[in-house]
Amino acid sequence: MAAAGERRRRLLWVAVVAHVVASGAGFVEDLDESFKENRKDDIWLVDFYAPWCGHCKKLEPVWNEVGVEMRNMGSPVKVGKMDATSFSSIASEFGVRGYPTIKLLKGDLAYNYRGPRTKDDIVEFANRVAGPLIRPLPSQHMFEHVQKRHRVLFVYVGGESPLKEKYIEVASELIVYTYFFSASEDVLPEYVTLPELPAVLVFKDGTYFVYDEYEDGDLSSWINRERFQGYLTVDGFTLYELGDTGKLVAIAVIDDKNSSVEHTRLKSIIQEVARDYRDHFHRDFQFGHMDGNDYINSLLMDDLTIPTIVVLNTSNQQYFLPDRHIENTEDMVQFINNILDGTAEAQGGDGLLQRVKRIIYDAKSTVVSVFKSSPLLGCFLFGLPLGVISIMCYGICTADTDGGIDEHEAAKKENGDQELTDEGSEEEQEEKNGKYTELSDGELKQKDIMEKKKD
Ligand SMILES: *[C@@H]1O[C@H](CO)[C@@H](O)[C@H](O)[C@H]1NC(C)=O
Ligand SMILES: *[C@@H]1O[C@H](CO)[C@@H](O)[C@H](O)[C@H]1NC(C)=O
Repeated sequence: MAAAGERRRRLLWVAVVAHVVASGAGFVEDLDESFKENRKDDIWLVDFYAPWCGHCKKLEPVWNEVGVEMRNMGSPVKVGKMDATSFSSIASEFGVRGYPTIKLLKGDLAYNYRGPRTKDDIVEFANRVAGPLIRPLPSQHMFEHVQKRHRVLFVYVGGESPLKEKYIEVASELIVYTYFFSASEDVLPEYVTLPELPAVLVFKDGTYFVYDEYEDGDLSSWINRERFQGYLTVDGFTLYELGDTGKLVAIAVIDDKNSSVEHTRLKSIIQEVARDYRDHFHRDFQFGHMDGNDYINSLLMDDLTIPTIVVLNTSNQQYFLPDRHIENTEDMVQFINNILDGTAEAQGGDGLLQRVKRIIYDAKSTVVSVFKSSPLLGCFLFGLPLGVISIMCYGICTADTDGGIDEHEAAKKENGDQELTDEGSEEEQEEKNGKYTELSDGELKQKDIMEKKKD
């Protein structure tokens, strides 16, 4: 009897330990105010969360996995989480203005994580940012190995120079997006010819490009422009990232699973333009395709049917649609030239009218989505107050036949607005006031793109 009890207790204990290890909670430190003093000697990856925030709760299991993974890798990065509402003064010192905010803290520098909230992406980010700013590629073999793993690869070639200092300076900022390497000339593939040394190159799209200070402007904006492949599969997240480049984004909006000629043709037209007209357009344009029209329609508040082509101006949220059928590459080039010379008509934008339209659009789609996902709840949320008001109005109206309609409308609108603020408000509240971008991104909404320019 006693033995059985003992065994059961031991089993229970094993189960508890297994649970802790599996959930990874043990590898994430719960941080408090002492963190400010104690953090100095270490590199920290911290999730600043709020207990009430839904996106934070979704992140929690991922965060525990991140803790386990960093520990298993023997990474020097420590993983922690801080309830930013309990320690708000520390959180605001670190510039936390929305939840969750993920930061890597390294000495005096704080890097914001703005990518998708998956374990692999977060771990990759932490390793990249915590590691050396410039990674040397000492051999041909090493170069080839790294080139296989990076679709876009920046390399500095040459000895000490002002350009190298500049490169390091840019790396310390843009390491949140990409890796920075250095190599000597004899390590590069044979097809590379450099006009002069030192040089900064980017390898991508099956070729390479050399930075030219006179033509390309400052190094930082060149790297920001070149850090994407010439042709991309674009989703909401990429579109948001592309906003930083200020480029126009030309995309085929298609159904990826539809193999009919219509869909594949538009995709290959864009691919061809991206490749064959790079020299003409790559400074101003990013090319790609997007699968499905849901995202783009809610972004543009439009009703585009797929397949189609649309060009977005990420600087001012305007967009352009071709005024006729795009049959071939020449049509597309013509369309792009019309946009550049101002003859194509822009739609949308970030004017007042568009913002009002956005509010109404969001309210409407919230109401629709509530009804779609749960008609009963929809009827209850919107129907019950309306019903009560109707009865009241009926009473009033039978006495005096004026004014019933207005109250209906007012009630409807109020309901819509309430629902709207419920959705995603945790991420939005801070975006309006900062010059310092602190956007968190996993669940990207069109609003991110709409508002980021103001940061
Ligand atoms: C593929 O696209 C064509 C043209 O837009 C459309 O008529 C067709 O119904 C689509 N097929 C499928 C399987 O969705
Ligand atoms: C894109 O928007 C920016 C900012 O408003 C503007 O300066 C630029 O001319 C626009 N580009 C085109 C092609 O309309």
